Amino acid sequence: MVINRLLITGAAGRLGRIARDHFYGKFTHIRLSDRSDMDAARKGEEIVQCDLVERDQVERMLEGVDAVIHLGGQPNEAEWDTVINSNLIGAINIWEGAHKAGTNRVIFASSNHAIGMHSRACKIDHECEPRPDTRYGVSKAFGEDLGRLYSYKHGIRSFNLRIGSCFPKPTDARGLSTWLSHRDLCQLLDIGLTADYQHEIVYGVSNNPLSFWDNSNAKRLGYKPQDSAEEYRTEIEGKHFDDPVAEQLQGGGFSASGFTGDLDSLL
Ligand code: NAI
Repeated sequence: MVINRLLITGAAGRLGRIARDHFYGKFTHIRLSDRSDMDAARKGEEIVQCDLVERDQVERMLEGVDAVIHLGGQPNEAEWDTVINSNLIGAINIWEGAHKAGTNRVIFASSNHAIGMHSRACKIDHECEPRPDTRYGVSKAFGEDLGRLYSYKHGIRSFNLRIGSCFPKPTDARGLSTWLSHRDLCQLLDIGLTADYQHEIVYGVSNNPLSFWDNSNAKRLGYKPQDSAEEYRTEIEGKHFDDPVAEQLQGGGFSASGFTGDLDSLL
């Protein structure tokens, strides 16, 4: 199905601005949404300011949309109310709106924190058990399950991108494993919009030799990462967490925050 109208949520955010610039001029119509202010619309762009928790507004925003890149939401750990509103209800509203609108694809910004309680010693793939490390991580695992529901039951293509650490460059030693360059992010979003699939989970990670993840599922869909955190090794290799939980579990500081479990049983 040809994509005439693309919706990008979270368009005022860090990754939303990257996606906005990457897709500018590539589709007839790009609808950009966030609850925060966004730069003025350019040719072929439309701005829709709305909170994801507002079901009627979100459903109107989905009308006529062929594909969604859903980046909007709470991007790290927060109290339940915030996570529930922005990430649980917000994601439900996006999927329900997509279903009502006949949208063909939803690309969801999931997170490595959906699986952050796995040991760094285990190289996991897209079929591993979800092990959220935070309330935030639970919301990402929930979003992936919404994808399964609307994909297998209603036929919407669902592309779930478990993003590692997507910044201009890696910031600490964990980034040697988790970093995703902006260029590789854009390649993965392109794959999400064009590849033939029903429901997929892929890792949003660059070509890092120390990656925690076997990303063969992304490679099967055509992903050829261009960047590697190794280029920054000398800047970051000494920047470790001063905490054994953060150092041994994949979610790093998210896994360690408030941890009261049995670390040995997880290794
Ligand atoms: P960001 O915080 O820069 O952007 C998120 C945007 O969502 C913000 O502009 C914010 O205003 C908007 N937003 C939040 N709650 C909203 C609501 N209730 N209604 C409408 N808009 C709302 O975060 P970033 O880094 O751009 O992340 C984008 C997505 O990617 C998020 O879903 C995040 O969880 C996910 N992600 C990002 C990673 C990264 O390394 N940047 C890593 C893993 C996942």
